[in-house]
Amino acid sequence: MAILGVAKAVYGVDDLEKCTNFFNDYGLNLIEKTSEKTLFELEDGSQVVLRKKDDPSLPKAWFDGNGIKETIWAVDTQESMDRLIANLQTDREVRRDNDGTAHFIADDGMPQGLTIFRKRSIVSAADEINTPAKAARVNRNRTWRKRAHPKMISHVVFQVENPQLSYDFFKKRLGFRLSDTQRKLGCYARADGSHEHHNIFFFNANYLPPHVRKLGFNHTAFACDDIDEMMVGANYLERKGWATRRPGGFVGLGRHRISSALFYYIPCPAGGHAEYLADQDYLDDSWMPRDWEENFGGSVWVHDIPEHLKKDYSWDMQLFDEDAAK
Ligand SMILES: [Fe+2]
Repeated sequence: MAILGVAKAVYGVDDLEKCTNFFNDYGLNLIEKTSEKTLFELEDGSQVVLRKKDDPSLPKAWFDGNGIKETIWAVDTQESMDRLIANLQTDREVRRDNDGTAHFIADDGMPQGLTIFRKRSIVSAADEINTPAKAARVNRNRTWRKRAHPKMISHVVFQVENPQLSYDFFKKRLGFRLSDTQRKLGCYARADGSHEHHNIFFFNANYLPPHVRKLGFNHTAFACDDIDEMMVGANYLERKGWATRRPGGFVGLGRHRISSALFYYIPCPAGGHAEYLADQDYLDDSWMPRDWEENFGGSVWVHDIPEHLKKDYSWDMQLFDEDAAK
């Protein structure tokens, strides 16, 4: 075990005030706000950092526009940190901060970082589900939530030129595992110390229609307890005047088939979308990656069905032998 997931998502934005207000309303805990940066912290100790796009402390921009300009990964021990850095230094520059954070550039040009991270345990109480066959809650209500309070950064997604090449770097140099592939769309990968279905998705930018086909940031997913927390969060954002529906809001609430996660993609002024997520698959190293037809893998259902999902598509999924595929 070495990398535990995302420790810090460092955004570069054009409007610090507006983006701070958004993540406040989204439900992240504000820790610090200055004229130069805003710091939010989630329950597990991971952080969202907002800086102005032209802040010299950010790595050289690898895409235009707002979004995550650097992803800092959580490393479990000093020994793991030393081993990862020694390997990276064999063919690239690794810059160290005073606090020990290491910065480097992945093969695809994306800025990445590593920091030693003490993950805090998450305390929360998701409600049991009653069904016609089984009463898990008797004479008990579900929890009445007032606000969403996402607990951790589940994953980050970037639009890249070649998902396989981007993933290869994470596999060979950082120890990531392949979780699944979505045909034409890209690769899902998880860190070796994480049980989240994926911590990063490499999205094939060439799959996108020409007007949005570009390299860069796509979205960040924040894990909630359940569907109630997600929808309380989405309703609160709407009351505060943020757009949560199409065209910017994609397909509303839905459930992915790949990863099983419930999703709600909220358009985010800091770039791309901020996804509320819950009930995702929990994987270990006995998981066999699968290769999914893109529409079949994309969702089981969505609230606001787009045209391309109204057509028939193939229910096609195969186990994926990564070594045999080479
Ligand atoms: Fe996602």
